[in-house]
Amino acid sequence: MADAAEGPRRRLAVLAGQLGPASAIRSDQTTAAASTLGAQPCAAREAAGGPGPLLAGQVALITGAGKGIGEAAAKLLASHGAAVVVADLDDTAAQLVADAVQEAGGRAVAVAGDVTDPAFAERAVGEALRVFGGLHILVNNAGYTWDGVIHKMTPEQWSAMLAVHCTAPFRLIQAAAPAMRDAAKAEVEQEGAARPRSIINISSTSGTHGNAGQANYATAKAGVVGLTKAVAKEWGPLNVRCNAIAFGLIDTRLTRPKEGGESIVVGGKAVALGIPSADSYWSAIKGQIPLRRVGSAEEAAGAILALASPLCSYVTGQVLEVNGGSYM
Ligand SMILES: NC(=O)c1ccc[n+]([C@@H]2O[C@H](COP(=O)([O-])OP(=O)(O)OC[C@H]3O[C@@H](n4cnc5c(N)ncnc54)[C@H](O)[C@@H]3O)[C@@H](O)[C@H]2O)c1
Repeated sequence: MADAAEGPRRRLAVLAGQLGPASAIRSDQTTAAASTLGAQPCAAREAAGGPGPLLAGQVALITGAGKGIGEAAAKLLASHGAAVVVADLDDTAAQLVADAVQEAGGRAVAVAGDVTDPAFAERAVGEALRVFGGLHILVNNAGYTWDGVIHKMTPEQWSAMLAVHCTAPFRLIQAAAPAMRDAAKAEVEQEGAARPRSIINISSTSGTHGNAGQANYATAKAGVVGLTKAVAKEWGPLNVRCNAIAFGLIDTRLTRPKEGGESIVVGGKAVALGIPSADSYWSAIKGQIPLRRVGSAEEAAGAILALASPLCSYVTGQVLEVNGGSYM
């Protein structure tokens, strides 16, 4: 008779993503797989001959990975063993990040393009399959702000935010369905369990709490939450997790003083980025954030890694607020 604990052990091992075909998993291997759940640093685990990095054997597609949070996430996920598709509107920035990952000993490929282009999603997913042979982690991160008070907001401002923050992630998840949902379904049918797969959609505290001057962005980032929960319910039975992260103030060009003159060119139009007044920016930080500082892009990336990793194998359909304790 089969060991009663064998089923759960095997499932844990597959969840941890360190093993071969489900049929080849032995109970002694589950101990090794489960040890990846410990806090041992990646290099130390490898030096000790342990089961390897958190994302070993996984392929991650990260949009908006040329700068800011996406760049930090591409580098961090690669350092934990993932092969990374670095997708960005800015082809130079994307290539620089891919080069940096490779120079650090990781695997990466750059894909240039606008996520709002209807053809982009299929092309980006196609690159993941062509270059790395699969797709296990999708991070819908590309985005920007185009602020204005609601009584002056143009239809173009409104539509642009829905296009980049809602329609683009929808298309990418749909394009990823064969590599994520269908592949998982085949594994369940053939091997009894599916390997870990994870989608992370980047939202904002503007979406979860609202923000004056951002009716378009807040609406779009709230939409991301609904998309996340729907996908979590549809694909959860196939071990494809889907979570959102609502960032608060993270130090990137989106939150630096507007006087710095940063802008993004989308569809041939330049949109100014940043927060208008440095004074109100800093007083908001000091007054409202319990940790009394903005977060770094690297700290933001840490939350992405955590949700993508086996450490969060039982977390799906959630919105993780990464905001220094604001809005408690
Ligand atoms: N910085 C924050 O405080 C903060 C807070 C909440 C949410 N966010 C969200 O985090 C995500 C990343 O923002 P960031 O702060 O790192 O900004 P960023 O400007 O530093 O990086 C965003 C990247 O996305 C790319 N991008 C933008 N529009 C694109 C498009 N249409 N197609 C392809 N690439 C595109 C940009 O070229 C850039 O490289 C965004 O979705 C943003 O809304 C940021």
